[in-house]
Amino acid sequence: MNNVFLKFEQKSSLSALLLGYALKTENWSAPNGLIMTAVPDMMLNFDPFLNNLKQVFNGKAVILKMNPNSICRFHIDGIRLASINLLLDGFDSNFYFSTPGSTANLIENVVEAKYEPDTYYLVNSKEKHSVINKSETRYLLSVEFTEHDFATIRDYSIENMFIK
Ligand SMILES: [Fe+2]
Repeated sequence: MNNVFLKFEQKSSLSALLLGYALKTENWSAPNGLIMTAVPDMMLNFDPFLNNLKQVFNGKAVILKMNPNSICRFHIDGIRLASINLLLDGFDSNFYFSTPGSTANLIENVVEAKYEPDTYYLVNSKEKHSVINKSETRYLLSVEFTEHDFATIRDYSIENMFIK
């Protein structure tokens, strides 16, 4: 899945802080049907690795929330080109990419992308993807990039040995 989903070498120490924030805040909005809240900038200061990537590529950090028993159908993101994601809770959810050429009614040859705890992933938002959420509320940190694409951030990250 080298062109859609890549794991960073650096582990995250932000999960507990961000999940705590997500569980406490009431500042949710739902543009385009996605439930999200902005992450206060100061919170990312606790992780210089992520904060640096966010600044280099002018990203914006949000937490995306999915209620239990929800499906986000296959789509390509609008203005978002790529993101760095960290799953905070909802580890029984499934995240899929589809292969090009799949028809609307039957999506074949899907590939599941699995999130590990405390692990950042670079995600190509311009490839079709879908999430099936199960029994838990799912919270995902997503640092969104609208000015730089997956390949640019991947190449930079490989050069700097953030991604093997
Ligand atoms: Fe998406």
